Amino acid sequence: MNRYQEILSNFPFPLYLAPMEGVTDEVYRNICKELGADIVISEFISSDALIRDIDASLQKMLFSEHQRPFGIQIFGHDEITLRQAAEKAAEANPDFIDINWGCPVKKIVSKGAGSAILKNIPLMISLTQAVVASVKIPVTVKTRLGWEEHNKPIITVAEQLQDVGIQAITIHGRTRSQMYSGHADWTLIGQTKENPRLQIPVIGNGDIDSGTKAIDYYQRYHVDGIMVGRAAIGNPWIFEEIKNVFYQRENHDYSYEQRVAMCLRHLQETAEIKGEKKAVLEMRCHYAGYFKAIPFFKEKKIKLMRATTVEECRDILMDKSL
Ligand SMILES: Cc1cc2nc3c(=O)[nH]c(=O)nc-3n(C[C@H](O)[C@H](O)[C@H](O)COP(=O)(O)O)c2cc1C
Repeated sequence: MNRYQEILSNFPFPLYLAPMEGVTDEVYRNICKELGADIVISEFISSDALIRDIDASLQKMLFSEHQRPFGIQIFGHDEITLRQAAEKAAEANPDFIDINWGCPVKKIVSKGAGSAILKNIPLMISLTQAVVASVKIPVTVKTRLGWEEHNKPIITVAEQLQDVGIQAITIHGRTRSQMYSGHADWTLIGQTKENPRLQIPVIGNGDIDSGTKAIDYYQRYHVDGIMVGRAAIGNPWIFEEIKNVFYQRENHDYSYEQRVAMCLRHLQETAEIKGEKKAVLEMRCHYAGYFKAIPFFKEKKIKLMRATTVEECRDILMDKSL
């Protein structure tokens, strides 16, 4: 059993909050953990910025002890920088380091980082090997099926990555050219897991948006863990829902007041760490999730998108006349 498998063995149903830039900061990871996420990972961190001690990157590495197991995710394209960034990330004492080989965003891909590496598998393998060799803690990889529809080498890629020492792989069941369109192809995730040569844990990711789907896919594709991304934005209760289905407990709905309380806590704590302006801006992506099922929310949302202070947001959320 590798070190990472030991970590996973503590969880009957390993449930991950996906790393999401601008979303899964320290505050939101805490909230999701409290509601049932088992393993959380930082937002991606540029290895270039990390080794230059850029404040925003150092801040992304901060975590509290109760967030463990916690992984720091780095991205980059050049061996020396990636090694140095991994060493620096390891000094922050996370439980593992995750390499992002899956980001489809043009700004990242154009530099040869993220999913761009799927066009050069030998380089992906050698850079990963260099990172594994540079730190003592487990290194994992998060990637996609391949670069495009007719090029989905994930089964052999996973094997090669295992052979250079990664301890787990997360697969988002899309290609880079799909970006976020279409459906995640879990069949190929399942086939990667079933490869008898693959011993390391495989975590499945893509389109999980309910408790029943999470459990269904977990059992159908025999993955070692399930990772939830977009469905968790503004909806930390997704983790509770998934756990409730897993443990055959009853699910319950949250009232508008309970949603407001959680949302305000999120906003307030973010403001304390990042400052009011940034917190108010960052919260905007969460409102649709927090108040998805609330029929009268539309008008409040328009106002929230224009609000600039925490107090304004609080007034809009609490205003009973709206
Ligand atoms: C706003 C946003 C930011 C993201 N940032 C990251 C990131 O920093 N690192 C990463 O590996 N993936 C990132 N992703 C991808 C997610 O981790 C996940 O792989 C993807 O959303 C598919 O899972 P889902 O269908 O459950 O959303 C991001 C996705 C979104 C929507």
